[in-house]
Amino acid sequence: MKAECRVIALISQKGGAGKTTVAMQLAAGLVARGHTVAIADLDPQESAVRWAESASAEAPFPARVRALQGEGAALAKEVRKLARLASIVLLDCPPSIEHPHARAALDLADLALVPVVPSPPDLWSARAVERLILQTIAVRPQLRGAMLVNRAQRTALSGSVIEVLREFELPVLRAGFSQRNAFAQSAVIGGSVLDLGKAAESAQIELMRVVDAVLAEMEKGR
Ligand SMILES: Nc1ncnc2c1ncn2[C@@H]1O[C@H](COP(=O)(O)OP(=O)(O)OP(=O)(O)O)[C@@H](O)[C@H]1O
Ligand SMILES: [Mg+2]
Repeated sequence: MKAECRVIALISQKGGAGKTTVAMQLAAGLVARGHTVAIADLDPQESAVRWAESASAEAPFPARVRALQGEGAALAKEVRKLARLASIVLLDCPPSIEHPHARAALDLADLALVPVVPSPPDLWSARAVERLILQTIAVRPQLRGAMLVNRAQRTALSGSVIEVLREFELPVLRAGFSQRNAFAQSAVIGGSVLDLGKAAESAQIELMRVVDAVLAEMEKGR
């Protein structure tokens, strides 16, 4: 991997936790902070590729998005190729940690981010991903991991959820995403909440806070 390129994997055990949505929003936010970003779509459903393809020619998605196939060394080679074109590569993983691409992503990443919807079943399944990340860190200490709260309802971060979040060994990122239409809607125009103007201001503020928290988390790993 090119020394100055950082790799962030979005990984979760549960489908629908928000890996693709977070990857696309993060990519746009990191570009807004001056980074060049590439997304490796490791999910056979190719949702990230489709998202970017929804953009118009006049306003293309701000990061290169490429579907990558293969396993092991072949996949690593493809990710390395993308890393030559960007300062940050985001890996959008398939919906299961049993999928070989999810494990390969952990072997390639500097930071594994686990989007978790703050509801009990989602938190339970996040424990399995956490275990896998901790096992990987045991053999590859340069990997860092963090939980990223996604789709938080204003009422949901109640006592019991906060209790469960505290039980994670991995840190919980200090910024997260609320449940907001803007995050889903920006897929329709093949962009991010940064393209939605003043109406999406709260989502934009949230995104840039997450971007800065992710950048701070990566700095710790240097
Ligand atoms: N913060 C959010 N606010 C509102 N809707 C959201 C948010 N995050 C994700 N969603 C919606 O939740 C659904 C699942 O999100 P997404 O496809 O990003 O999850 P995923 O983890 O990539 O799923 P899969 O495992 O199937 O790839 C989508 O309909 C998306 O629009
Ligand atoms: Mg997805």
